[in-house]
Parts: sequence; structure tokens; C-alpha cells
Amino acid sequence: MVSQVRGVQLARLLGQWHALPGRRRSPDYAALAGAVRGLLADGRLPLGVRLPAERDLAEALRISRTTVTAAYRELRDSGHLASRRGAGSWTMLPGTHRVAPNGLWIPLDDRDMLDLGVAALAAPPELLPAARAAAEDLPRYLSGAGYHPIGIIELREAVAQRYTERGLPTSPDQIMVTNGTQHALDLVLRLALAPGGGVLVESPSYPNALAALAARRARITTYGLAADADGWDADLLLGTLRQVRPRVGYLIPDFQNPTGHLMPAELRERVVATAHAVGTDLVIDESFVDLPLDGTDLPPPTASFDRHSRVVSIGGMSKPFWGGLRIGWIRTSAPQVQRLAAARVGVDMSSPVLDQLVAVHLLDVAPAIVAARRAQLAVQRDALLGALAARLPEWRVTVPRGGVTLWAELDGPISSALARAAEEVGVRLAPGPRFGLDGTLERFLRLPFTLPATDLVEAVGRIAAVRYDLDRAGQPRWREPAVIA
Ligand SMILES: Cc1ncc(COP(=O)(O)O)c(C=O)c1O
Repeated sequence: MVSQVRGVQLARLLGQWHALPGRRRSPDYAALAGAVRGLLADGRLPLGVRLPAERDLAEALRISRTTVTAAYRELRDSGHLASRRGAGSWTMLPGTHRVAPNGLWIPLDDRDMLDLGVAALAAPPELLPAARAAAEDLPRYLSGAGYHPIGIIELREAVAQRYTERGLPTSPDQIMVTNGTQHALDLVLRLALAPGGGVLVESPSYPNALAALAARRARITTYGLAADADGWDADLLLGTLRQVRPRVGYLIPDFQNPTGHLMPAELRERVVATAHAVGTDLVIDESFVDLPLDGTDLPPPTASFDRHSRVVSIGGMSKPFWGGLRIGWIRTSAPQVQRLAAARVGVDMSSPVLDQLVAVHLLDVAPAIVAARRAQLAVQRDALLGALAARLPEWRVTVPRGGVTLWAELDGPISSALARAAEEVGVRLAPGPRFGLDGTLERFLRLPFTLPATDLVEAVGRIAAVRYDLDRAGQPRWREPAVIA
């Protein structure tokens, strides 16, 4: 099924397309085509959407139809549009691009691209030995069918032990192994949320979690996080919970993505108590819990304040170890694990045994790996902060005490325009609006510090160069309301 975008809708998305950076002396049709490509590149305009008829868009933009015809022709030539006579034109992906894990496009030949769209580290050196050791272990499993819907016992034991060590006694039958944290969230939502069910999320939040909620047709209410060090405003969060009484609350208390905030123990306790009082189940995403920096002490796990099985914790191997493993987990009550396993057989049956064995071997040497990751991340974060202070001093950043990202407050509502301009100079960015629901957050940009320090410094240099070009191209301005007299 192809959805359609009307002329006025596309015009709204395009905003100040004629004043976008990089415009310089290009003709209107090329600027329009470039702006549509920009919307596709940052995910604001989906693939497979039917664009408005040329006349409809020309009217909405108050430009000539010839300009729209020429822009559509250019988009067809660059492989961003497919047309059939009588049926219209759809957005598409050029054959020379692939889709990155973050949902953004990457041209196949862009080896020099510095990708700040993905907040994840390359694999640690311990991965290959772990994979070899896992292959040695595999024969123990080969006499069975290989389906383990809740995961192999060795891995569930190892994960349960890590929770217990964090002060949250956990038995292996409270753990279900998944194909990553994202999969864990999707499975939990399948069980906890009927279509149209209410969910409270932080704003900004992790874009793929928002996508999972949209896929379950959740009715989403957002709760705004402050950009400064405090992050959560307790009264506002608890007040919103009491007022909205959502079925589910999805929170990232441990070095929140994208802001890097850490929720204090006292608020964890109050959120859990309030959630219980209003009948909300909490899904607590602990993706970054292993990555405190600067010796920051971690508050107790959110689930340790739970007396009523209201809190489901999800986490995984991706951030401290490697995203390519696709191993995550859910911690909940043992009966709930059984219900999740029953739901799972209709989805993907179980996780690969070999990958689970690799995870077991990595967890065996976790302290050494995680210590090296933290040291590496602290150096990279400081290099990024130093480059920002030197090249973009008007941006405001709060130093994150953990995790892998910082959330920069920019000097204007330029995040999407900046991401488009940065792409031209070989830096991929995830602009602020990707972390919200309604196209706001244009004053913010998430910057991960998962690339080597030299790459981060180089990327900031390139971003700073195009930042100042934006000014020369004329900053997008908010339209003044038209007065009708
Ligand atoms: C908060 C959060 N949850 C979940 C995920 C997805 O993790 P996984 O690779 O384990 O599916 C990420 C990845 O960036 C994340 O930041």
C-alpha cells in the first residue's frame, strides 16, 4: 500500500527549502529536488510515498509548475523517484545506496563518510577468541533441535548473575534471551499493549523505540527532559504519570539516549511507586548501564524498587560489547517469561545458539572488556567536548557521566539543515527531530563519541565549517502569521 502526501503537507515539511544551505546559485528546481532528497535522507519523508501531483505542489509552494516538473525529473534521474503514467510518482531508494542501521541512507561508495548517526562501538579484540571458543562449545548443543525460546541456560545464568551482582537478586528463569534490546522491547510491547494503548515516553528518546511504539499503534504521550544536568523534573514526570495513567511507561534511566542523563535513586523509587499506584507497567531500558564514566556511582537498578512485578527491565550486549552480536534480554517474573516465550514462537522462535555461546564467553571476561570500553569512551568524549569548545563555542553541552552520546543545544533551530549540509562534506548526523515525535527538537543534535578521537575532531571541524555556511545561505526563519484584515 502506498500512502500519499498532499501538496500542503509536503510544503510544510519542506519549510524554507529555497534558503537551504548549499543552495548558492543553483536554480529553483535543483534546490527543490535537493530539499526533497534531504527529507528522504533524514527520514522525515518515508520511502514508497506518493508525492503530490505537480500542479498541487506548485500551488502549495506558490511556484510555477515547470519548476516542479523539472525537480521531479531531477529526482527521477537521481533515482529518488519512480513514476508511472496515470499512477503518479513514489519516493524510492537509488540503487547506489543502502540503508544504515539507524534508518538513514548511505551511498555504497562513501568510505570516507564519518558516521555520527550511529551510537555504537566497533567490536572489542576479545570478540574473535570468544567466537572461536563458542564454536568449540557448539557440539554440546548439536544433538538437540536447537530451539530455545527463552534462551540457552548458560547465558540466562550469566545474565541473572549480573543482575544479582548489581543488587537485584535474579534467577535464570526470570531471564529471556532476545535478538537485541530492540527485539526485547518489541516482544514486551506485544504482550503489554493492545493497539491504541497509552504509552509515556521521554522526549527526546531513542528513535527506534519510538518506531516500535508506532508499530504497535500506541497512543504516545511525551514527557520533556531538560537539556541541563538535572534531566528529569520529578514533579512533572510523576504528575504526568498520574494525569495520563498510561498502560506502559518506557524510560531509559541509565545514561539516557540521547541526553546521557542518569536518573537519581530517589526518583527511581518514586516513579516505580507512582506507576504502581496508577496501574502503569514500566519498561526500563538499561542499554547503557555498563558504561558509567569518570567513576560515576550507579544508583540501584530501577527494578530493585519494584514490589509488584510492575517493572520489566530490558538490556543487551550491543553497547558494552558489540551490536553485531544481536543478543539482548528481558528480566521479568518467571510466569511472564513463559508468556513472552509463547508470544515469541509466532515471531522468531528463538535466538541463534552460536551467538548466545559467544555472548557467554564475552560475559566471562566482561570486567576487562567493560573497563577498556569505559576508558576509551572517556577519552573520546573529552576529545569531542574539546573540539566542540574550540570550534563551536556557542553550542551548549552538558558533560554526560556515562553512555555514549551527548546532546548539544545548538545556536538556532538548524539541526535538520545542518545534517543535510554535513552530509555534503562527509559527516552523517542524526538531527534532533529524529529523537522526538512531532518534528520539534530542531535546536538539538545528538553527537555520539563512539568513533576514534581523531575522527571526532575531524567531524567537528567539518560540521563547524558548514555551520558557518548556513549563516551565509540565510538562516531558515519562522514564518510570520499572515494578517487577514
Ligand atoms: C536506548 C536503546 N535501546 C535499545 C537499543 C537497541 O539495542 P540493540 O542493538 O541491543 O537492539 C539502543 C541502540 O542504540 C538504544 O540506544
